[in-house]
Amino acid sequence: MEMKMYHEAADFLLKRLPFKAKIGIILGSGLGELGNKIEDPTIIPYSEIPNFAHSTAIGHKGNFICGKLGGVPVVAMQGRFHYYEGYPMERVTFPVRVMKLIGVETLFVSNAAGGINNTYHVGDLMIIRDHINNLPNPLIGPNMGEFGVRFPDMTRAYDRDLIARAERIAKEENIEVRKGVYVGLTGPSYETPAEYLFYQRVGGDAIGMSTVPEVLVARHAGIRVFGMSVITNEGWHFEGDYTNDAQEVIDAANAASERMGRIFQRLISEIAEA
Ligand code: HPA
Repeated sequence: MEMKMYHEAADFLLKRLPFKAKIGIILGSGLGELGNKIEDPTIIPYSEIPNFAHSTAIGHKGNFICGKLGGVPVVAMQGRFHYYEGYPMERVTFPVRVMKLIGVETLFVSNAAGGINNTYHVGDLMIIRDHINNLPNPLIGPNMGEFGVRFPDMTRAYDRDLIARAERIAKEENIEVRKGVYVGLTGPSYETPAEYLFYQRVGGDAIGMSTVPEVLVARHAGIRVFGMSVITNEGWHFEGDYTNDAQEVIDAANAASERMGRIFQRLISEIAEA
C-alpha cells in the first residue's frame, strides 16, 4: 500500500477524533471487556475509515474507538484483522501504521492462545516476553523508510520495562501471570497434537493466529509494545474425546477478560504518569 493510503486514513481519523492519544490498544479475544470501559468513546466503524479492511473473525467487532481509560487518552481497535481471513499482510497491519501517524507511541496487544507449555491451563494469563514468527513477515517488500529501517532489531520486541511493571501490578492485584513465548502461525485450522508438541519443543509456550504481524510493524516504526495472551485451550494433552472448539476458545477468553483488563488499565495509568 502506498504511503498516501496511510496518510488518508490518518488524516481522516485526526479530523474525527476528539483528542490525540499516545497509547494504542488492539482489543483481541480477551480484552473485549476493556473496550467497554473506555469513557466518552468516539466510535468509528472500520467501514468509514479510508483504506481500512473489515473484520470478519468471530468474537471480533470492527470499530476504532477513541476515549479515555482511567483518565488517559487511548485509541483502541475493537477487532483486528487476521491473515487467515485472506487479507494480505499489509492490510492486516495497516491500522498499526495509521496509529503511528496519529501519534501512538505505545501499543498494547492481546490475544487468545493455545497453551503448549505443559504447566499452562485454560484461563491462565501470559505476558508475552518474546515470539516465534511462523507467518509471512509483513515487512517483506520495498522498505517504507518513512516508518523505519530495512532491518529492524527484534532483540527486545516486547518492552522490558513494561513487562516488569506488569509483573509487579499483577502481584499487587493478586493475579497470577505466566511469562512466555508466543508462537504466531497462519491458522485457521488448529494444530494437530504432533504440531503442538513440535512448537513446544522449539521453545513456544503459547500458540495463536495473530499479534506477531502487528508487533513487527509496530517495532519497525519505533512503537513500544506490551502484549498478553489468555490461555483458552491446552495443546499439550488431549484426553478422552477432547477437540478444539472456537466458541469454547472465545468463552475462555471472555472469562479472563476482567483480570487482563485490570493489568492493562493500571499499566496504562502508570506510563501516562511516568
Ligand atoms: N492454536 C492456534 N490459535 C489459537 C489456539 C490454538 O490452540 N487457541 C486460541 N487461538
